[in-house]
Amino acid sequence: MTVSSHAARAHSFNAAAAQYAANRPSYPSALLDAIEESAGRPLAGARVADVGAGTGISTALLHARGADVVAVEPGEGMAAQFRRALPGVPVVRGDGNRLPLADASLDFLTYAQSWHWTDPARAVPEALRVLRPGGALALWWNTDAPDVPWLAEQGRRIARYFGQDAPGPDRNVNARGVDPSGRLDPVRRVVRWSRRIPVDTHLANIGSHSIFLVQGEEATAAFLAEEREHLTRAFPDGFVEEVYDVILLLATAA
Ligand SMILES: C[S@@+](CC[C@H](N)C(=O)[O-])C[C@H]1O[C@@H](n2cnc3c(N)ncnc32)[C@H](O)[C@@H]1O
Repeated sequence: MTVSSHAARAHSFNAAAAQYAANRPSYPSALLDAIEESAGRPLAGARVADVGAGTGISTALLHARGADVVAVEPGEGMAAQFRRALPGVPVVRGDGNRLPLADASLDFLTYAQSWHWTDPARAVPEALRVLRPGGALALWWNTDAPDVPWLAEQGRRIARYFGQDAPGPDRNVNARGVDPSGRLDPVRRVVRWSRRIPVDTHLANIGSHSIFLVQGEEATAAFLAEEREHLTRAFPDGFVEEVYDVILLLATAA
């Protein structure tokens, strides 16, 4: 990806914030359990910043666990949607490369589906600056389960149509990929979960990924129309089961 297309994709969510909020998957409570186990402390009462908070899907879960959470989000469209969804939770404008947060002020710094938009050369030192010693940096992504045939077939159709891989980071994301400097030494956990949803919700979900948002409405609509035909043939009851492996990388600050 070129630098400009990376930036365009990073900002593409703002125009689709309502679609994003309505159709994107959340994360299972087993993921929050895995975060607490890996960090060796509960989220309840912890000082947490959720960066790239978007419309608040990840922040809402942290808040519900009893964390004292502040959201950080660079995009105005996403921040506006966040304020509608979670009016009681503070959201500040900023990004992972330059966090608007005090030194050694946090027990957890979380990035749900957003670390890949940062520049790790700047985001890693920033994370280590704002975490207190012993605090945890938790990065996670919902990735398509690789052993589910209909998802694999759809991934191939997306790759053929756009000449690119399926949306979102893939399940091979690892320590070197998120931190080429090697300063972080994260543990890696995989948490499987699924949701059964109408085909239209699934199509609106995949249409809210940046790979589609930057293609323009016409190309996206044409792909989604063909995809609806594939899926209604394969699932005549009109429902699909999206199966996810959440990849969690959690590093503790020295
Ligand atoms: C895929 S969304 C994830 C939103 C939310 N955390 C969730 O789980 O649904 C990615 C978010 O990262 C934000 N973002 C873009 N560039 C960023 C950066 N450099 N640092 C932090 N977040 C960034 C986008 O504005 C967007 O809201």
